Amino acid sequence: MSKTEENLKEAFAGECQASIRYVAFAEKADAEGYPGAARLFRAAARAEIVHALSHLRVLGEVKATQDNVETAIQGESFEFKEMYPAMVKDAVEDNNIEARHSLEYAMSIEMVHAKLFKKAVEEESTNASSHFYVCPVCGHTVRGKAPKKCPYCGVDEKRFMEIQ
Ligand SMILES: [Fe+2]
Ligand SMILES: [Fe+2]
Repeated sequence: MSKTEENLKEAFAGECQASIRYVAFAEKADAEGYPGAARLFRAAARAEIVHALSHLRVLGEVKATQDNVETAIQGESFEFKEMYPAMVKDAVEDNNIEARHSLEYAMSIEMVHAKLFKKAVEEESTNASSHFYVCPVCGHTVRGKAPKKCPYCGVDEKRFMEIQ
């Protein structure tokens, strides 16, 4: 890998992290009554996404949709089969309950994601018109209609976010 490729990968990771950090900071600013700061964080978060997307494209990591779905299946499968189980084990050993819950939610939902992507391949349904719903607490992802209560964390259907 060339130095520039290495730099782009590092910059991509940094921009992704900054973007999410600013989303969290924006929510906090809203909660603390600083709407101006919240908007600035949201604007910066969106701009970091622009940077991250550009780096990723230059790296050649955005391929045809069929390849991208395969990449997604591999990534999600690695996460729920290998990465998160090992991390959950560490959290249990460290007696860190909050970390354990956060990691377990993600582990469970990466499995849901892998299934959704596999189904998209089997049914060639990447063009289907149905919407998705995402749980704001655990990230559970559902096609078509939000459940009455999230089966993973118990959140009410009204709080699910609709993804067009
Ligand atoms: Fe996922
Ligand atoms: Fe949930």
